[in-house]
Amino acid sequence: MLELEERILRDGRVLEGDVLQVGSFLNQQIDTSFTIKMAREVHSLFSGSSVTKVLTIEASGIAFGFAVASLFGVPLLFAKKSKSLNVDGTVLSARIHSFTHGNDYQATVSAEYLSSEDRVLIVDDFLANGEALRGLIKIVDDAGASVVGAAIEIEKGFQGGGDRLRREGIRVESLAIIESMSESGITFRR
Ligand code: G4P
Repeated sequence: MLELEERILRDGRVLEGDVLQVGSFLNQQIDTSFTIKMAREVHSLFSGSSVTKVLTIEASGIAFGFAVASLFGVPLLFAKKSKSLNVDGTVLSARIHSFTHGNDYQATVSAEYLSSEDRVLIVDDFLANGEALRGLIKIVDDAGASVVGAAIEIEKGFQGGGDRLRREGIRVESLAIIESMSESGITFRR
């Protein structure tokens, strides 16, 4: 999505450790009309997929997930990262390793919110090594539901997570794929 690439070039900042800071419109302060525009793009990409639920992980995926789910007219479900008093009953969970943060955490969803009938679109703001996505796919698989694909705002292509999942047959659609980035510039995959 050209407009997202232009926005990244205009407002993004490359920080140490291969981190792209896009807090001004995506991660911390959210440009709501632009988020809806990005969600429309996702809606048209997956319009034939009979999506029944959108799944993301807290926290930054929720805003984009909400916009996407509202266009499909389906619920947004988000996995919790911390132990929560309000996740009860049987839970589906996956252990996720974050390379960015150098730690492991447990992503958890109440089993009652996913059934074997569900056709799930997974969304997230960033895709780096793909571990969060892998964890969410496991949760959907454990529920016996189907993953129709994943929609990502910004993929850091040079970290390889998206391509590994594509090779495994998962449909991964990213609105912008960064091929390389440094303080002197950012290039996108064409
Ligand atoms: P992975 O899931 O693809 O393997 O990625 P990784 O664990 O390495 O990423 C950990 C967190 O860092 C995720 O957010 C991810 O969205 C975010 N992230 C990764 N690369 C970048 C980047 O270049 N810029 C920004 N802004 N974020 C990045 P999180 O820890 O789950 O936090 P939250 O923001 O969702 O609460």
